[in-house]
Amino acid sequence: MERRPFGRTGLEVSRVGLGAAQHGRSDVSDGHVERVLNLALDLGINFIDTAPSYGRSEERIGRFLSHRKDEFTVATKCGCYGDLTRGEYVDYSRKAILEGLEGSRRRLKLDVIDIFQFHGLPPPELLEEAFEVLFEVKEKGLVRFVGVSADGPRAAAFAGKPTGELDAGEVARRWRVDTWQFTYNIISQEAAWELIPVLRELSMGTIVKRPLSNVVWRFEERPEGDFLGRPWERAREMPLGELARDMPLTEFALRFVLSHPGVDVALVGTISEEHLREDVRYAEKGPLPEEMVRRAKDTFLSMFGT
Ligand SMILES: NC(=O)c1ccc[n+]([C@@H]2O[C@H](COP(=O)([O-])OP(=O)(O)OC[C@H]3O[C@@H](n4cnc5c(N)ncnc54)[C@H](OP(=O)(O)O)[C@@H]3O)[C@@H](O)[C@H]2O)c1
Repeated sequence: MERRPFGRTGLEVSRVGLGAAQHGRSDVSDGHVERVLNLALDLGINFIDTAPSYGRSEERIGRFLSHRKDEFTVATKCGCYGDLTRGEYVDYSRKAILEGLEGSRRRLKLDVIDIFQFHGLPPPELLEEAFEVLFEVKEKGLVRFVGVSADGPRAAAFAGKPTGELDAGEVARRWRVDTWQFTYNIISQEAAWELIPVLRELSMGTIVKRPLSNVVWRFEERPEGDFLGRPWERAREMPLGELARDMPLTEFALRFVLSHPGVDVALVGTISEEHLREDVRYAEKGPLPEEMVRRAKDTFLSMFGT
């Protein structure tokens, strides 16, 4: 698997990373998660993204992969806790960030966390203090690098998470973290103009979440809720089959993301061994022909660009 320099971190990351949100699910067995996590490393993936709010994800990564820690970089998060079944809550106070870090270090069985990210943007009144704490834990050597996971205003609004008065690009300029995670995919291309240019200018490592837009085109009916429903509507409107020509849509979608020169690593969020192998195989085919990328961008801009 191709690797590339990751911003100014000095790390090299595989183009495909594993998004380990599903790997914390309690309805998936430990044995299965252990196999998928190890398969990811065996396939050459060296980047795993997790969070305390992803159920048992951190704990399982610690349990099943700590003997292979020299083979991968792990990025976790703070600021968002609980989970979808117990209810999520947001807390960016100093106390919560520090306690969150301790919990992640314990579950991941790590003295030093590789990448510690805000799981979204802290509320405006806590922004200054929260970033101070983030840089403080880096200064103390408890984490190697710090980052943020947040979309620009238009992509966030589309994903149903409006950022209010905060603009991710402006926040990135003000607080020079090492890495930034954001949504970018064939259905939601907003980051290409509202975020990626700023992140490149700042030499931040770039991490794409939802690179496959949750494969929404697989659903016959509109999925419930705006989170999947709105991408599904766009997928219906866009001439995806025509743009992909005779390529499977999932391959087209993943290679589209990886064709962007400003994208370092794309996190595929699969719990399936078969899909993981498939995604890696797709990624290894390299960027799409320029003409295909151009048509996909032009089509998106003409339909949703204003
Ligand atoms: N706020 C945040 O910071 C935030 C938010 C969202 C996501 N993320 C990160 O980004 C990661 C990825 O995001 P995501 O899981 O929402 O989006 P995604 O990777 O775009 O989509 C995941 C979905 O795609 C399916 N899939 C993957 N490969 C496939 C294939 N070859 N064929 C068919 N289906 C396939 C998976 O199903 P199967 O499991 O059945 O393969 C899963 O339902 C997360 O795990 C997390 O690490 C972060």
